[in-house]
Amino acid sequence: MAVFEKGVIFEGVDTADSSCWSLAAYQARGGYTALKKLIEAQTPQDEVIAEIKNSSLRGRGGAGFPTGLKWSFMPRSFPGDKYIVCNSDEGEPGTFKDRDIMWFNPHALIEGMIIAAYAMGVKRGYNYIHGEIFEVYERFETALDEARAAGLLGERILGSDFSFDLFAHHGYGAYICGEETALLESLEGKKGQPRFKPPFPASFGLYGKPTTINNTESFASVPFIIKDGASKFLEAGKPNNGGTKLFSISGHVNRPGNYEIPLGTPFATLLEMAGGMKDGKKLKAVIPGGSSAPILPGDVMMDLTMDYDAISKAGSMLGSGAVIVMNEDVCMVKALERLAYFYHEESCGQCTPCREGTGWLYRVIHRIENGLGRPDDLDLLTSVGNNMAGKTICALADAAVFPVRSFTKHFRSEFEYHIENKKCLVDHKWF
Ligand SMILES: Cc1cc2nc3c(=O)[nH]c(=O)nc-3n(C[C@H](O)[C@H](O)[C@H](O)COP(=O)(O)O)c2cc1C
Repeated sequence: MAVFEKGVIFEGVDTADSSCWSLAAYQARGGYTALKKLIEAQTPQDEVIAEIKNSSLRGRGGAGFPTGLKWSFMPRSFPGDKYIVCNSDEGEPGTFKDRDIMWFNPHALIEGMIIAAYAMGVKRGYNYIHGEIFEVYERFETALDEARAAGLLGERILGSDFSFDLFAHHGYGAYICGEETALLESLEGKKGQPRFKPPFPASFGLYGKPTTINNTESFASVPFIIKDGASKFLEAGKPNNGGTKLFSISGHVNRPGNYEIPLGTPFATLLEMAGGMKDGKKLKAVIPGGSSAPILPGDVMMDLTMDYDAISKAGSMLGSGAVIVMNEDVCMVKALERLAYFYHEESCGQCTPCREGTGWLYRVIHRIENGLGRPDDLDLLTSVGNNMAGKTICALADAAVFPVRSFTKHFRSEFEYHIENKKCLVDHKWF
C-alpha cells in the first residue's frame, strides 16, 4: 500500500526509493540519534518513561491504553528474565499500517524497541509478525542483521553496559494471535488461544515472566518522542490524543492507502486527502477503527474528528485506525454478513459463547441476506449478542457483536426490508 501523508514515523521517508528501509537511509534522516542520546547521557530509566507518559502516546493496537503507564507496570527490579514483545500480527479487516512501517521504515520500530528495553531493563525482545506477510518478515530480519552488525543490538550496545537482542517471529496468520495473550501462547509454540487476565502480561507474560506488549506503531513512535521531546509530539494532535497516527483508508475512496496525520484531524479532511468518494457516489457509512469498531452513518462521521475521545463519544472506537468507507450502493446486510463470517471463521473456539455465538450470528444474517429471514430474527441477533459480549476470555466475541449491534441500530430499516420483502433494498453493485 502507498503511504500518502507523513507524520512522526514516515517524516522524511521516500517510499518511492527502494532502499528507504535500510540502516544507512534511516541514519541519514536522523535515525538512532534518540538511542545514542540516551546512552551517552545515561538517562535514568524513570526519565524515559516519564517522557513517554508526557507525550500522551496511546497504544496504537486498538485499545488506546497509555503507553508510558503500561511501561511503568513493568517490575524493573525483577531479578530474572523479562521481555518486550511487539504485536505485528495485524489481522483485523481494513488494517494495513504495521506492515508498511516494517516494509518502509523497520529501523524506527527496532530503535523504538531498543529504547523500550532500555527504559524497562529488558535484555530480550520479540517481534511477532503476521504469518501471511512473509516478505515483510524477511525484510525485518535483514534490518535486524544490519542493526546487529552496527553494534545497535546485542551485547554492550554502542559500547555501553546495556545489552539487548531482538528476534523476529513468523506468526501463525490467525486473527486471534493478535490478542496479546494468544500471541504469547503462539510465541511459546503452543496453540494461539487467549489466557485468563489477570494475571496480566506485566506480571505473567512470555514463559511466565514479566512482559510488556505494544503495537508496532506504538513502538515506532518512540524514537521521535525521545529525539524531539514529548512536547513536540503533543504539538500534533490534541490533549490526551497526542501525536500523528496512521489511518489505513480502504473502500470507496479514490486513493486508498495509509495517511499519517495529527489525531484530531476532521474526518472530512481525511476523506478529501483520500481523493474523496469514488465515482462521485454518496457516503453512506464508515467503520472508523477496524472491522470490530461500531459502524457510524456517513453524516455523523462528517462532523467528527479522528481521535480516540471524539470517536468513542460518538459511540464507536478509533481502534487501530482502519477506516472503511462505504458508498450508497452498499447493502448493509451483505456487508454485515461478510464481517460475521470473518469472526465465525476466526473464533479460536475456546469459549462456548464465542464459538457457538459467532456461528449463530453468521447463520441468522446469512439467511436474512438470502431472503429467508424470519420476523423475530433481529431480536434473535440481539439476544445471541447479549449472551456473547463480555462473557468470554478475550474480546473477540465483543468484536463480533459490535458490528451486529451497530449495523442493526443505524440501518435497521434495511434489515427489516430484507426480512419483509425477501430482497435487497439497494442494487448490489460491489460484490
Ligand atoms: C481478537 C483481538 C485481536 C487483536 N489484534 C491485534 C493486532 O493485530 N495488533 C495489535 O497491536 N493489537 C491487537 N489486539 C490488541 C492487543 O491485545 C493489545 O491490546 C495490543 O497489542 C497492545 O498494544 P498497544 O497498547 O500498543 O496498543 C487484538 C485484540 C483482540 C481482542
